[in-house]
Amino acid sequence: MLKVLLASRNAGKLREFSELLPDLQFVPWPADAPELPETGAFFQDNALQKAEGARAWWLEHGTEAVDGVLADDSGLCVDALWGGPGVLSARFAPDLPTYRDKNLRLHSLLPEGANRSARFVCVLAFAPMAGRLPGGPFTVSGAVEGHLAMDHRGQGGFGYDPIFIPGGHHQTFGELPSDLKHTLSHRARACAALRERLAIGLR
Ligand code: IMP
Repeated sequence: MLKVLLASRNAGKLREFSELLPDLQFVPWPADAPELPETGAFFQDNALQKAEGARAWWLEHGTEAVDGVLADDSGLCVDALWGGPGVLSARFAPDLPTYRDKNLRLHSLLPEGANRSARFVCVLAFAPMAGRLPGGPFTVSGAVEGHLAMDHRGQGGFGYDPIFIPGGHHQTFGELPSDLKHTLSHRARACAALRERLAIGLR
């Protein structure tokens, strides 16, 4: 079983990766490790920046051997907000403490009668550890189309899940069971591509 350092302290992401990739053993980013910068303009830049930053730090300070590092840069892109909050999803409305409040703020930015179409995007960067896996860092991605609910609905998931209704459904990711989210989410699609890429790379 591959042992992979997850370059994230987001508990929602850690839970989803453990469920989506049960064939990998995840080492969470330690609480005393530095915050990983994400200063890029695109999801892909940020995912690579986090994976490579975490790998460099781990090579000096890591407490156990890992086969590679996985980083996720993801977010909600709302058409009526020209793709925002997008790469800034984790930093949207920093004055508000909860996602319920952030979701209400997001709604308040939409003009009356605005197009509510939106998508979740996920870019994964995988950086192999030299000597343990072949090849260099690479990225894979996934997206799910949908639209914004009129209000915050459901207790499941994390982040913007309670306001996102995936295409073909009437409930938000906060209301739908997590195993259904895992059949169609942006992260599930990126994980499927990652699994394929790792299997091919290791063959
Ligand atoms: P980052 O990838 O660390 O920049 O953070 C991504 C942010 O996008 C998260 O903190 C959430 O706010 C949001 N996000 C990404 N994926 C999901 C998801 O599956 N559900 C809900 N919110 C998400």
